[in-house]
Amino acid sequence: MSIRTTSSSVDYVEDVSPGSGALAPRAWYASSDAMSLSLNGSWRLRVSPTADAEDDTFAAPGFDAGGWAEVTVPGHWVLQGDGAFGLPIYTNHLYPFPVDPPHVPTENPTGDHLRVFDLPSDWPDHAEGAGAVLRFDGVESCARVWLNGTEIGEFKGSRLPHEFAVEQLLKPTGNVLAVRVHQWSAGSYLEDQDQWWLPGIFRDVTLLHRPAGSVRDFFVHASYDHVGGAGTLRVDSEVAGRVLVPALDIDVATGESVTVPVEAWTAETPTLYAGELVTAGERVPLRIGFRTVVVEDGLIKVNGAPLLFKGVNRHEWHPVNGRALDLETMREDVLLMKRHNLNAVRTSHYPPHPAFLDLCDEYGLWVIDECDLETHGFTEQDWRDNPVDDDRWTPALLDRAARMVERDKNHPSVVIWSLGNEAGTGRGLTAMAEWIHGRDSSRLVHYEGDWNCRDTDVYSRMYAFHDEVEKIGQGLDGGTHKRRQLPFIQCEYGHAMGNGPGGIADYQELFETYERLQGGFIWEWIDHGVQDERFGYAYGGDFGEELHDGNFVCDGLVFPDRTPSPGLLEYKKVIEPVHIEGNGGDGTVRITNKQDFADLSAFAFTWSYQVDGESVESGSLTVPALAPGASADVKLPAPPESRGGETGWTVRALLAADTLWGPAGHEVAWGQDTIVARTAPSVAATVAPAADGGVITLGPATFDARTGTLRALGGVEVTGGPRLDVWRAPTDNDDGAEWQSDTRYGVLWRKLGLHRMRHRIVAVEADGNALTVRTRVAPAAWEVGLATVYRWTTDGERLRLTVSVTPEGDWNVPLPRLGVRFGLAASADRVRWFGGGPGEAYPDTKGASRIGSWESTVDGLQTPYVRPQENGARADVRWAELGGLRVEGDPEFSFTARRWTTEQLDAATHRTDLTPGDTVWVNLDHGQHGIGSQSCGPGPLPQYHLRAERAEFTFVFSESR
Ligand code: GAL
Repeated sequence: MSIRTTSSSVDYVEDVSPGSGALAPRAWYASSDAMSLSLNGSWRLRVSPTADAEDDTFAAPGFDAGGWAEVTVPGHWVLQGDGAFGLPIYTNHLYPFPVDPPHVPTENPTGDHLRVFDLPSDWPDHAEGAGAVLRFDGVESCARVWLNGTEIGEFKGSRLPHEFAVEQLLKPTGNVLAVRVHQWSAGSYLEDQDQWWLPGIFRDVTLLHRPAGSVRDFFVHASYDHVGGAGTLRVDSEVAGRVLVPALDIDVATGESVTVPVEAWTAETPTLYAGELVTAGERVPLRIGFRTVVVEDGLIKVNGAPLLFKGVNRHEWHPVNGRALDLETMREDVLLMKRHNLNAVRTSHYPPHPAFLDLCDEYGLWVIDECDLETHGFTEQDWRDNPVDDDRWTPALLDRAARMVERDKNHPSVVIWSLGNEAGTGRGLTAMAEWIHGRDSSRLVHYEGDWNCRDTDVYSRMYAFHDEVEKIGQGLDGGTHKRRQLPFIQCEYGHAMGNGPGGIADYQELFETYERLQGGFIWEWIDHGVQDERFGYAYGGDFGEELHDGNFVCDGLVFPDRTPSPGLLEYKKVIEPVHIEGNGGDGTVRITNKQDFADLSAFAFTWSYQVDGESVESGSLTVPALAPGASADVKLPAPPESRGGETGWTVRALLAADTLWGPAGHEVAWGQDTIVARTAPSVAATVAPAADGGVITLGPATFDARTGTLRALGGVEVTGGPRLDVWRAPTDNDDGAEWQSDTRYGVLWRKLGLHRMRHRIVAVEADGNALTVRTRVAPAAWEVGLATVYRWTTDGERLRLTVSVTPEGDWNVPLPRLGVRFGLAASADRVRWFGGGPGEAYPDTKGASRIGSWESTVDGLQTPYVRPQENGARADVRWAELGGLRVEGDPEFSFTARRWTTEQLDAATHRTDLTPGDTVWVNLDHGQHGIGSQSCGPGPLPQYHLRAERAEFTFVFSESR
């Protein structure tokens, strides 16, 4: 006989239903004149290993939790207590538990949370018809709630609000709120969103007083007729009342429409009208933005005009607090986005904290609001048992859709609802789309996973290669009849993992060429690195997870601390609202307004002339207030007399006045052109090499007679070169993702051994006025090699090196880099250069690099990618000075200097692995391979490949003063 016990008290954990006890979802607002009490702060916590390890006696008043730990709510318990309560887990799409829906492991960390609170002394006494509501804005992944010992419900849907009526249970003092949170639940199957799994009460907990006659749900309908310039407002409200908008002289009953002249809301011109919804018991502030979103003629149009998304995917992230974000952090995201010319956010892959959407309304960002849904792990079993195609789960899906739409429906910034991400296809998704279309016909529905566009109003893809995107733009991509009528967006592209993404300018060109392509959203906003003493920032595997996806969680345009990475600066340039370009040296500059709605009156323009990178003259430029899409040729003042040297102009567009998001003078766009090109450095070969024992002298330089290696130039000692170098520490995009269909060169480079090249000295020849060193550079095991000749000459002061490279054998991969490397003393620190800057740039990430005269330090040149990799190259360098050495290039070169070797950079897995040595390693590159986006997407386009082919390049070295 077997004895079987089951614990019915935890059955809800594996129940596919969304939960029980919660009130119907409704519109969210930050505050009103009704009282509320924040229950954020210090809570007591006990974590148990299983869902049923503890009974529910802790929820009863009088329970002594004095011995429990204290944690902060909002928060995740695995990010508090230094691991005492468990650790974070990162997986991309694999479920970190057996796929056995709806079951979850017996090992199910469960956090019992307790908070005792008093009502404020001015909390209204109970009145007929009044109530109180307890609101949870986000709990991962399943919670059961008791107030004063009475169970009030349980719920799932981690990033969605849940409210409970609690009036009957409240006491003036000593209220005991008990929340049992399970890390895993049936809901976890719907939340497989490529991020850290972080249990906890991670958004606000609030007690809301609900006066008699107070507002329940309400829906602000505010459309804009772009032909007549009028806005139509109607506020539907469950509890009838009046709608007041003083600036528009509106005072109407709820449910009544009124049409008045207004300024429309767009992300470029986010006009909000302050109003109020007034019912018998409450005054709720409204912020109304009038706009109309439709698909018309196959295009997404807002207020009659097609728009172009210059967007980003945003997960919520803070390096210490995880997904518990405070308002200032959210504001920082919005400000950074606006200051970098972004105009759109996809809230991947769940509705964000609602306050974020208030900020989008206020500062102006188009939003695709995405439902808290992803079942990506089912792809491993060909989507068998996928919850979105199983009717038992449909109530949970509909609940999630409703909680998103009802919460966020009053935000003008939200123009598209997204059903979720990477959940395959199925009836449940169709049901969600039908429900959303029925509830809100004023917005579009998006879902990337259904390429037939059965349920959607936009054709959306992720990481489609450039050539396919172009075909789609041309309408040659086929697909269902419905899809062919729809506009196209890339809901994810430009994978910003590590160094990159490359090739986004090429995408932007396509977006701007073909009407049907309405832009896209870079993946993603922020690196989800966890601040950690051991590593700087931790990523997958750093917490000992048995299954993880490493640093795939660090793929943002900003570092975990929100410092912009070069990728963000590149994107800012690529999507600038004004395009500024030369007209082939005819003294005019062509200015184009790249905005969709606003004219150029918000911007002031400046011009300047530079000689050898230094500004010599500047002034302001009058540019007409061009309409969206319009261009004009504007005459520049006469350029300065040529005094020799390279001459060029720079024109900049700046904010003309302070705005909400940036001060007057903030640069939004720039362009440059050359007027007089530089002359390449020349050195007459007038001095012959002289051999003396083990040393060869050539003017100011000494060489090792046996190897032909430079040892010193005047007083500057040189180690380890200059000698040919083709290796770079592979970037995440070099290595590529294993699922990519194109060739992963990072993998082939390592296989070929480009990181272990050998240098065979063929000859060291003093011949006439040159020292020639012939070598063959090749990896063990293969026949391929690079015949490399170094030819040194001098005029007695300056030393010229010409490197000639001839590939031998069958090279079927491009080279990571082609140039020379050498070491300087560790005292080398200050760097000056004339060329591209101020930041790093590679062949397909060069947009933001502008020609000028720049200064930095060796440390300042480094880009601290969370997983160290190739970084910091300055492109198009004419000359550079470092450690007493001046180098001029013919042609321009790319320049890198660091306090560790490429091999050390390659071996490092975290920032903390990199420690300065006693040499500064300098790379002067004739070329670098492009960066691409192959960590999830295409590799570099062919035009950015560094082919192994014959090459010759020259550097002129001298001592700098
Ligand atoms: C997509 C997915 C994102 C993220 C990205 C790669 O497939 O939607 O959540 O995983 O790839 O970083």
